[in-house]
Amino acid sequence: MGKYRGSSKLLLQPKNTEEVSQILKYCNSRCLAVVPQGGNTGLVGGSVPVFDEVIINVGLMRNILSFDKVIVSGVLVCEAGCILENLISFLDDEGFIMPLDLGAKGSCQIGGNVSTNAGGLRLLRYGSLHGSVLGLEAVLANGTVLDMLGTLRKDNTGYDLKHLFIGSEGSLGIVTKVSILTPPKLSSVNIAFLACEDYTSCQKLLLEAKKKLGGILSAFEFLDSDAMSLVLKHLDGVRNPLPPSIHNFYILIETTGSNETFDKENLEAFLLHSVESGLVANGVLAQDINQASSFWHIREGLPEALMKAGAVYKYDLSLPLEKMYDLVEEMRVQIGPAAKVVAYGHLGDGNLHLNISAPAYDDNILAKIEPFVYEWTSKNRGSISAEHGLGLMKAAKIHYSKSPETVRLMIDFDYCVFELLPDTSCLDDNHSIICLCLSA
Ligand code: MLT
Ligand code: ZN
Repeated sequence: MGKYRGSSKLLLQPKNTEEVSQILKYCNSRCLAVVPQGGNTGLVGGSVPVFDEVIINVGLMRNILSFDKVIVSGVLVCEAGCILENLISFLDDEGFIMPLDLGAKGSCQIGGNVSTNAGGLRLLRYGSLHGSVLGLEAVLANGTVLDMLGTLRKDNTGYDLKHLFIGSEGSLGIVTKVSILTPPKLSSVNIAFLACEDYTSCQKLLLEAKKKLGGILSAFEFLDSDAMSLVLKHLDGVRNPLPPSIHNFYILIETTGSNETFDKENLEAFLLHSVESGLVANGVLAQDINQASSFWHIREGLPEALMKAGAVYKYDLSLPLEKMYDLVEEMRVQIGPAAKVVAYGHLGDGNLHLNISAPAYDDNILAKIEPFVYEWTSKNRGSISAEHGLGLMKAAKIHYSKSPETVRLMIDFDYCVFELLPDTSCLDDNHSIICLCLSA
């Protein structure tokens, strides 16, 4: 991001859980702040040492421990530092897929994915990690190892504490191992790239896709004309998939099923019907794997294109579908010509990625964006972090999405965990350590 900097003097790369435990125990006894780090692909400054923290990077813990495709179908157990793309290729050879896919898959690690409850491109079909993570192992600040690495589908014995570690961004402990349920790989994958002229048509198209493509719908992504222009300008080798002009909105639809002929015909019929009914202005179905990946490249390449364009203010919002694009339009009025407002996201999940792209970071621009964007989101009962987490960027903004009572309970819970500390002198009355932890 070029946005978060610190001055850590020490990076530690433990090779196993025992080493993580010893490091944390030592740092805790000396009140040394730590920042857990995986692939360092986060977008909110959560994995960056912003003060002088000791970095605990789990990248060397990259063993696949087991994969059970016989007895309990598709349960993968691995260490936190496994790179997502390596897990995807491992499973591909076994005839399975990860229930999670992200543009950052080449660098991000499963421990970080779980700690931030990463969403990504397949959530529409396979749900959030709260559904697919069956168990995990985590190390608390005082070095206690919590073994919650179950592989069972059902286990109603007391509180399901693993859920507190999914998405708590390292504030409660460091995730060291994960067990995850992986779906079987299905043989027929089809991709369509469509253009709509207005946002209402995009919404109606989603509803139609859910009705007509039902069980085989695996992704429904959208980008607007500014996003398309940006990709065409900044990413090498990308061509306009629906030339000659740029349309107002684009939708990428992916279906995944097991009947090649039926699935393809189904998507073709859907496309034809959507054009006839006027929802879709133009569209194309990927004819081969190369064309399919070129369509995905447009969508997945957007964060990279934005980085290349200069400074970017990124907002990752959950909003009611019907209101989502109103915010983009209001933001354009609010910002004026000083910066470009670029919108894309996981429309199927109600998740907007609102990006304000400027030549350089500028406090005058920031003052036009914040608190406007958070107030707007809160007023419309959205979430200020759909899938990227709070990190350093939004730790102090949590109240826009959570009630005071809820935040209070989170703080109390943190204290509960921190009571395990032998020396609590590093906790101050303003809970600043908790804010620090939330940002990690
Ligand atoms: C994406 O969906 O591309 C990622 O969440 C990253 C981003 O928002 O830029
Ligand atoms: Zn996303």
